[in-house]
Amino acid sequence: MATALIILAAGMGTRMNSDTPKVLHLIGGAPMLVHAMKSGAALEPARTVVVAGHGAQAVEKAAAAYDPATMIALQTEQLGTAHAVAQARQALEGFEGDAIVLYGDTPFIRPETLAAMSAARLTHDVVVLGFEAADPGRYGRLIMKADQLDRIVEFKDATSEERSVTLCNSGVIAADAATLFKLIDAVGNENAAGEYYLTDIVGIARKQGLTATVVRCDEAETLGINSRTELAGAEALFQACARATAQSDGVTLTAPETVFFAHDTVIGRDTIIEPNVVFGPGVSVESGATIRAFSHLEGCHISRGCVVGPYARLRPGAELAENVKVGNFVEIKNAQIDEGAKVNHLSYVGDADIGARANIGAGTITCNYDGVFKHKTTIGTDAFIGSNTMLVAPVSVGDAAMTGSGSVITRDVPDGDLAVARARQDNRAGFAVRLFEKLRAKKAKGA
Ligand code: UD1
Ligand code: CA
Repeated sequence: MATALIILAAGMGTRMNSDTPKVLHLIGGAPMLVHAMKSGAALEPARTVVVAGHGAQAVEKAAAAYDPATMIALQTEQLGTAHAVAQARQALEGFEGDAIVLYGDTPFIRPETLAAMSAARLTHDVVVLGFEAADPGRYGRLIMKADQLDRIVEFKDATSEERSVTLCNSGVIAADAATLFKLIDAVGNENAAGEYYLTDIVGIARKQGLTATVVRCDEAETLGINSRTELAGAEALFQACARATAQSDGVTLTAPETVFFAHDTVIGRDTIIEPNVVFGPGVSVESGATIRAFSHLEGCHISRGCVVGPYARLRPGAELAENVKVGNFVEIKNAQIDEGAKVNHLSYVGDADIGARANIGAGTITCNYDGVFKHKTTIGTDAFIGSNTMLVAPVSVGDAAMTGSGSVITRDVPDGDLAVARARQDNRAGFAVRLFEKLRAKKAKGA
């Protein structure tokens, strides 16, 4: 059956105390909204509608960056969750199939759970995702009658008997889209909060003779984020899952609790990750690589057999072919490093192509920026760049060419040549001894 996602993300998130809309705060380097979209993506939705309000432009941009086909529905006033869903009606015009309502601030719903809800829809008109709460607090309570979900009562409106129910509403609801909008039309706002409650559709559906049921999930999946403290808790949970997944995928983490992953990190089998490594977004590492301690990687690709770090920094566009070595205090940005090349110590390589087996000496810098434009450096295969070479881009060093240590290379170096670009050395016989004698004599006089 075709599915449409409606993701509610209009709320202000007052308790975040932030200029950034709540759903754009990051977990594993991605906005929490994107996590919700990723869960929903498992249902291969025909349409995705994000209901935005506070910070709608920024929310729209983030949603489109993940999936350009995302539609945005504006909810200018936050009158309640039913009112929010109603704003998606126009975007779903002509759509036939199921609608699933998710919250943009609830990032951990598992795709399997949504699939179970879709399956339950085959036998029930309305399906609600519920959970047994350890501390039910202010959650809406799911009131069962025989084997049917009879209604949902919000905490504020619940009797003390209803408040003693521990089966709670996660907020995720599935129903046929046309049915959903019809039910929402019947929702009023005469309740303790004066809001249009989406949860009211269950009682309304049951009174119309429709069926409703609950799919249960683990409480951890329904974790919602309202404060910075909860955000940090969600990050910790995300990292714990990512570490466990990496380990079961055959990755060695020497000290797992010190390694931080992004939402899209991909790491191959038998790769070893030493302590205190941080993966920003967009990193893939093939099998059998070693990422040594204290390295920071983002937007890069590392091939089989590479050794990176300790203390390496790989920035967006760093592309390492097989068996490349990148050592300590080396920064690489937007550069292709071909097979077996080595950049072992204290270097900056940016906007460059480095040929296979080239050796880049300690302290080499590609001077890629003239203050206005960025320029490219090309280094040939088997080239040898002497220590402390400044490569003033645009410039190229040919295959099997060399540069002398300390050179400032401003012109292209042909294949096989040695370029030396530094002052010639001048030794002055005995000069050091005479100079010292003079200086010490001056000091003795108390000058
Ligand atoms: C809601 C449920 C409650 C459930 C709880 C789970 C209702 C009436 N209550 O309560 O049963 O236990 O979630 O966390 O649905 N939003 C909008 N526009 C609005 C109102 C809300 O986009 O006008 C968005 C919020 O940004 C948020 C989500 O909907 O992402 C939930 O809204 P919130 O006000 O947090 O609902 P709760 O009171 O927590
Ligand atoms: Ca909430």
